[in-house]
This record gives sequence, C-alpha cells and structure tokens, in this order.
Amino acid sequence: MKRSEINQIIVEVKDFVKAHNFTLPPFAFWTLEDWRARGEECREIVDAGLGWDVIDFGLGKFDEIGLVLFTIRNGVWDDKRYPKPYCEKALIARENQLTPDHHHRLKTEDIINRSGATLCLKLQQATPDGRLLDDPVSVSIDGEVCEFSANETVSLQPGQSICLVPYLHHRFWAEGGPVLMGEVSAVNDDVGDNVFIPDMTRFPETIEDEPPIHLLCNDYKRFGILQ
Ligand SMILES: [Fe+2]
Repeated sequence: MKRSEINQIIVEVKDFVKAHNFTLPPFAFWTLEDWRARGEECREIVDAGLGWDVIDFGLGKFDEIGLVLFTIRNGVWDDKRYPKPYCEKALIARENQLTPDHHHRLKTEDIINRSGATLCLKLQQATPDGRLLDDPVSVSIDGEVCEFSANETVSLQPGQSICLVPYLHHRFWAEGGPVLMGEVSAVNDDVGDNVFIPDMTRFPETIEDEPPIHLLCNDYKRFGILQ
C-alpha cells in the first residue's frame, strides 16, 4: 500500500474510534518525532509489536479485503521481559470489508463486536495438515455453546463475542456499516501463528510516497526506532 493511503485510513479510523467512545492509548498518537525523542523505556511497544497495523494482505484492494488493527497490549512467547500471556487489540472493518480465511495454530481469541453494525463470520474446522473439513463446528458465543454448519454465516450484534480456538478456520466482515471490534486473546505472534488459506502476505510492503503520520507496528525497524 502507499503510505498516503495508510495515512488517510488512520485519520479516518481515529475519528471512527472516537465517535464510538473508545480511546486508544497515548502511543497511538505519537509522530515519528515523538518516537525519536523516546528511548529504551518504550522497548516493550516495539518488541511486542504494539500499535497500528493497516493491511490489505498484499492484494491492493483494501476496501474489499483489508483490516485496521491496533494492538494495545501483548506478550512475547519465550521472552521473560514481556511475560503477559494475553493480547488485546482493537479491529476496525469497513462495511463489507473482508478479513480473509485463516486460523491460528496456538492462539485462542475472542472476537468482540464492540460497536457499530453487524459482524459476520464463516467458520470451518481445519486440520494440522492444512485441510478444511465440512463438519459442523461448535463455538462459544458469550458463554453459550452454539453449533453451526461449515461456512454458515454467524452474525454478531454489538456486545456479542465469539471464542475462536486454534484450528478453527475463520473469515469475517462487517455488514450494514463499519464495525469496531475488540480482540482478546493469548499472546499474538503474527510472524509464526497465522495460517492463511490460500496463503496471504501479512505485512505487505509500503510505498513511501509521503511521510507517515503514525508508524505501523512493522515500521519501527525500518525507521530505526530502538534498533
Ligand atoms: Fe484470527
């Protein structure tokens, strides 16, 4: 994606999040200059991959297939400096914008419709060798066991949440308008724990056509932050 497109999306998302009475932490608003004025005390933000994450999965059609995430807190597997066994994110999907088919090998995640329109998901059971089954799936929606056919549409209204366990393959999108989601999960490892079918680029390259308003979580190294 072009940096100008990412900047524009972040500006819009900040307004959207504010309008839905959710407040991101202070580092969501740091500029490159703010980052450069900081030092070791902020290493957790860099090492745990906190912050902005704007993705089009390398497909170049963000409006249709894409997502904005903001990782608020996270741990790092096998790193005692960051012992949090949990992760929290805010996710923002535009109307009809799809987060494509994937599952996680280790991470259990609750996806929460915090505010906005309807959050829709399709679920399928995956196997460790990468097959997708047509069997029904059983999930917890706010503590209630619910059974769905493979690829049946699951609709969540604001306030509702679903628990996605490892190997429960999922895609999701916003219907009827944009949705502000939350994600509460085990430690998030976007480098090693995501299985996209078909394979997708989790961190596509950015074309730098203007300066960043805010850095993305995969920008810290590129901009020399705490290296
Ligand atoms: Fe997921």
